[in-house]
Amino acid sequence: MDQVMMSNYEHWSLKIDADNILWLTFDRKDSKVNSLNESTLREFDQILNSLGQNNRTKALVIRSGKTTGFIVGADISQFKSLTSAEEATQLIRKGQEIFNKLERLEMPTIALIDGFCLGGGLELALACKYRIAENSPKTRLGLPEVKLGIHPGWGGTVRLPKLIGPLQAMDVILSGRNLLPKAAKKMGIIHEAVPRRLLEKAARDYALTPPRQKESFPWRQALNYKLIRPVLGRLFTSQVSKKANPKHYPSPFKVIENWVAHGVETPQAMDAEADSIGKLLVSDTSRNLVRVFFLQEELKGLGKGLSYKPQHVHVIGAGVMGGDIAAWCALRGFKVTLQDQAPKLIGNALKRANELATKQLKENYLVQEVMDRLFPDPNGLGIKTADVIIEAITEKLQAKQDLFQAIEKQAKPDAILATNTSTIPLEEICTVLKDPTRLVGIHFFNPVPKMPLVEIVKGEKTNKTVIEQAIVFVGKISKLPLPVKSSPGFLVNRILLPYMLEAVALLEEGVSGPVIDKAATEFGMPMGPIELADTVGLDICLAALEKLSATTGAKVPEKLKEYVSRGELGRKTGKGFYQYNKGKVIKPKPATKETIPSDVTDRLILRLLNESVACLREGIVDSADHLDAGCIFGFGFPPFRGGPITYARTQGGANLLKQLEELESRYGNRFAADRGWQTGEVA
Ligand code: NAI
Repeated sequence: MDQVMMSNYEHWSLKIDADNILWLTFDRKDSKVNSLNESTLREFDQILNSLGQNNRTKALVIRSGKTTGFIVGADISQFKSLTSAEEATQLIRKGQEIFNKLERLEMPTIALIDGFCLGGGLELALACKYRIAENSPKTRLGLPEVKLGIHPGWGGTVRLPKLIGPLQAMDVILSGRNLLPKAAKKMGIIHEAVPRRLLEKAARDYALTPPRQKESFPWRQALNYKLIRPVLGRLFTSQVSKKANPKHYPSPFKVIENWVAHGVETPQAMDAEADSIGKLLVSDTSRNLVRVFFLQEELKGLGKGLSYKPQHVHVIGAGVMGGDIAAWCALRGFKVTLQDQAPKLIGNALKRANELATKQLKENYLVQEVMDRLFPDPNGLGIKTADVIIEAITEKLQAKQDLFQAIEKQAKPDAILATNTSTIPLEEICTVLKDPTRLVGIHFFNPVPKMPLVEIVKGEKTNKTVIEQAIVFVGKISKLPLPVKSSPGFLVNRILLPYMLEAVALLEEGVSGPVIDKAATEFGMPMGPIELADTVGLDICLAALEKLSATTGAKVPEKLKEYVSRGELGRKTGKGFYQYNKGKVIKPKPATKETIPSDVTDRLILRLLNESVACLREGIVDSADHLDAGCIFGFGFPPFRGGPITYARTQGGANLLKQLEELESRYGNRFAADRGWQTGEVA
C-alpha cells in the first residue's frame, strides 16, 4: 500500500509505495511552474541526504506535481541579485554538489518527465540513471542557457557529452534548441518516450528491474578523448562562429573551450563549468539577455486576469500575410475560416499551412488535426460566427473601408474587427463603421511564423475592451502583444525607417552594400539593412515609404524607385540591391579591401536611436521597456544590448546628443536631435 510520508518540505512531497519505491513530487510553492531556486534546492538536498542514510528505499522516481511541466530550469529572477563572479560561482558549485549527490545514489534513480524539461531541469534529469518522458508535443527537452548569455552550470556541459558524445551534445548545448521526446530518445538523452497512461508503469518497471547501464554509444563517446578534442573543438568553433559573434555572445565559445581543455571525466571539467558560468552570469550580455527574458514575460502577461475566450478566427485576404496568419491561428488551436476574392490563393495558403504544420509538428495525425481546423471560405460564411475577424487584404483605403462596412453588417456584435494594415491610419478606415470603436489593429510581421511580435494598434476611437481582447487573443496564439498608438508606422516600422533610409543614403554615396551590412551586423543586427530591404521586398519598402513620407516628410530615395521600376524587387525576384541564387544572397566582393568608414555604424544606429527617443516622447508605447521589447522582438535589435533605450542609457544621453550634433553639422537636419534627449527620455 502507498504511504504518504509526513515531511516539512514546502516544495516536495514524498510517497513510498509497497515496493519501496520513493515517488518524489516537485511542486514549487507559490509558483505556476517548477523552477529551481535556493530554497527548492536546499530541500532537495535534505531529501537526498535522508535517502543516503535510508537503505529501505529501493528506487527513486522524481516527477512533477504541476500541469505546466517537469522543471523549466533555474529560477532566473535569482540572477539579478548576484553581485560578483565569485558569489555566482559559489552558488553554482552548491547546485553541482547536490546533483553529484543525486548521481552517486546507488539505487535506480528515474526522472519522469512530462512537459518542459529545460536547463537545470534537464541537468537534474541527467544526474538520474534513467529518464522516461511522455511522448507528447508538449514535452520539450533542452539546455537553452546560451540564449541567456550563459551556459549550463549544474553539470550539463559535462554529463551530456559524456552520455551521448560531443557531436550530438554540442548541437543541443550550443544551439539552445528544444527537442521533442522522439528526437531526444534517438539521441540517447532519454531512455523511453511513452504515452501518458504508461508513464508510471514505465517508471515502475525501470525501478524494479533496472536495465544494465552500459555505454550506449561507445564510438560517439570516444570522441571525448583528449587527442580528438582540439580537432573537434575547432570544428565546433567554426560552426558557432557562423551564427554568433564571440564578442557579443561568448558563452557557447566558453563551453567549447572548457570541453577541449578538460573533457568530461575530470573534476576539473565541473570546476571549469562553474568558473566560467560565474563570470558570464554577471556580464553585461547576460544581464541584458535576462532582462529581455523578463520583458518577454511582461508582454506575455499583458492579458493576464482578463477573461476572453475566442474560438473562431475569420481571416480575409489569403496573401502573404493573411494566409500565414490563418495557418498560425489554426496551428495554435483555433477554428479558422479563410476568405479571399481569389479562391486559388486560398488553395496556395492551405498548402503553405500544411507545410508549416508538418515542419512544426512532424507527426501526420497532428498535422491533420490542424488542417481540419482550417476551412477555405471563399464566400465569407465564417464572418457571421467568428469571434475575431482579421482583415489582411491589399493595402488600399477604399477596399478596406468597403470590406469593413460589409463585415460590420454581418459580424456578431461582440466580434473583434481587426486590420493588419501597416500604413493606413485606423482613424481613416473606421470612418465608414457605424461603431468605429470596434476597430483595432492587429499588426503581424512578415514572416508570420517566425516573428514573435504583434503590434496591437490603438486607434483614437478604439474601445478599451476591444484593445484588451485583442491583447488576450494575441497571447493565446503565442505571440507577444505590444500595444502601440495609431500613428504613422506604429512603432517598429517607424523606428526602422530612418535606419533603412540612412543605409540607402550611404549606398547612394558609394559605400558598398556589404560594407553597410557588415557595420550593422557587427553592431549585432541579425541582418544588414540592405539585405533586409531585399528580403522584405523593395516594392513593399517603396510602398510603405511613399505612404509614410506623406506624414513624416521622409524623402523617398531615387535609387529605390529605380530598382522597383526595373522589376528588381529583391530576394523574391532573384535580384535587388544584391543578386540571389535560389534565395541565397550573393554579395559582391569589393575590388579592393574596403574598410568600414568610421561613421557608418554611428549614422545607422544614431538615426534609429533618435527615432526611438521620439517615439518614447510621443507616447507611441507605454514605457521604455515596451519600446526596447518592440525593437528586439519586432526587428531583432541586438538583445544583448538590451534594446535602443537601454543601449542609449548605457552609452550616456549627453554623449549621444553630442554625436548627433556633429552628424547634423556634417549631413544635415535628418540628424537633428529629438527633443526627447533633452527632456530626460534616456536619463
Ligand atoms: P497580398 O497582396 O499578398 O495579399 C492580399 C490578398 O487580399 C490577395 O490574396 C487578394 O486576392 C486579397 N484581397 C484583396 N481585396 C480583397 C477583398 N476585397 N476581399 C477578399 N480578398 C481580397 O498582401 P499582403 O502582403 O499579405 O498584405 C496584406 C495586408 O497586410 C496589407 O494591409 C499590408 O499592409 C499588411 N502587411 C503586410 C506585410 C508584408 O510584409 N507583406 C507586413 C505586415 C502587414
